[in-house]
Amino acid sequence: MNSKQYFDEVAGRWDQLRAGFFSEAVRDRALRLAGLQRGKIAADLGAGTGFITEGLVREGLRVIAVDQSEAMLAEMRKKFAGVEGIDYRVGEAESLPLADESVDYVFANMYLHHVEDPPSAIREMARILRSGGKAVITDLDEHRFEFLRTEHHDRWLGFKREDVRIWLENSGLKDVLVDGVGEHCCASSSDGCDSARISIFVAAGVRK
Ligand SMILES: C[S@@+](CC[C@H](N)C(=O)[O-])C[C@H]1O[C@@H](n2cnc3c(N)ncnc32)[C@H](O)[C@@H]1O
Repeated sequence: MNSKQYFDEVAGRWDQLRAGFFSEAVRDRALRLAGLQRGKIAADLGAGTGFITEGLVREGLRVIAVDQSEAMLAEMRKKFAGVEGIDYRVGEAESLPLADESVDYVFANMYLHHVEDPPSAIREMARILRSGGKAVITDLDEHRFEFLRTEHHDRWLGFKREDVRIWLENSGLKDVLVDGVGEHCCASSSDGCDSARISIFVAAGVRK
């Protein structure tokens, strides 16, 4: 099973799973850091069933939700039926289905550790941002929990914050910051032998 098949399979249960992994405080921190302005347009990358989008819509933004998994986006459409201002697009991290300089914000929550090539995914984030636009990534600090690779299809066991900082700077973003969110991602292995509690970072930068 690959990552897309995994997320297609868990789509109907994702909201419940997500609530066990990490809390709304992660979203609050990401949105607060962005300094959102109503009426602007944001991309939610690896949108899943719309955890970040929900907060963005509440703040009066229009959203382009991108995900590799049609099933996750189908769940999201059901959840946001009747809500205007959301554009759903199936797409891949390394070749996003968005034009250059087309959005004011990019959000990516728990997405980077699933993509094949994180530096390339971050370059794509910078490409679609307008000048002055902001990218905000929330993801896992480096950890040792191999069962997340085998059971949850994580491609990377989190990241060193310094690497993320360099990838953002090398993508042409300025005012880069990487900081702890003060929240953790928690999960247990299916055999009950291992239990993960991984700190979450937020990384942000502004397109020059
Ligand atoms: C851990 S889920 C997070 C979903 C959502 N952001 C949230 O916080 O609930 C990761 C999402 O990223 C998507 N994803 C993983 N790799 C991707 C890729 N290479 N391109 C596009 N989407 C991807 C998955 O399909 C999945 O919906």
